[in-house]
Amino acid sequence: MLTVLNHALIKHKISIMRNKDTSTYIFKQNLDEIAKLMAYEVTREIPLREKIIETPICQTVGYEVDQPLVLVPILRAGIGLVDGFRDIIPTAKIGHIGMYRDETTLEPIEYYARFPKCMPESIVIVTDPMLATGGSASMAITNIKKRGAKKILLVCLVGAPEGVERIQKDHPDVDITLAALDEGLNERGYIVPGLGDAGDRLFGTD
Ligand code: PRP
Ligand code: URA
Repeated sequence: MLTVLNHALIKHKISIMRNKDTSTYIFKQNLDEIAKLMAYEVTREIPLREKIIETPICQTVGYEVDQPLVLVPILRAGIGLVDGFRDIIPTAKIGHIGMYRDETTLEPIEYYARFPKCMPESIVIVTDPMLATGGSASMAITNIKKRGAKKILLVCLVGAPEGVERIQKDHPDVDITLAALDEGLNERGYIVPGLGDAGDRLFGTD
């Protein structure tokens, strides 16, 4: 399933991020704020178990989250969504998967992977600001499935239709959430209108 969040604050903040004159500092600040809004939305339906609790007045039925939550940012740029998610889900464990796109072939190359042991029983939230061809996210999800994960959510800031199609074809069981669905890709594989190279803008590299 694809969900594109239709939220006024997200549209406002993402427009600031798209602006080429926005500094690294303001870019990260807006990414943090959007990440919190996205964390709130993607966890709306996660399973709960009932728990009897005592209020100061009486006994009642309360709730607690029924499964561990694991965040897996796709390095580098995926790291940018982690702070906001952790503010909302402070008990989440964090896995890491490192990938970069070969600039000529646009094929992803994996260089690092480390995950917590609880992957099989967890809800795994894969984060990356950009879903372009979908190659990086698809390879990351394949790797995460090999670690036993059964419930995987992909959360990206900006997606291209090509990337969405690729994930839906390779991983039809994975729900995709985007803050914005853009027009497509240019000849260099960048999302149009997009926001440029997310990693470079986030970390101030060029
Ligand atoms: C960017 C982005 C995604 C990938 C998307 O990473 O953060 O991981 O490109 O492209 P795709 O959908 O076509 O695979 P990049 O390769 O620039 O690495 P970085 O995060 O280290 O900057
Ligand atoms: N990676 C980015 O950082 N930006 C794009 O537009 C596409 C891939």
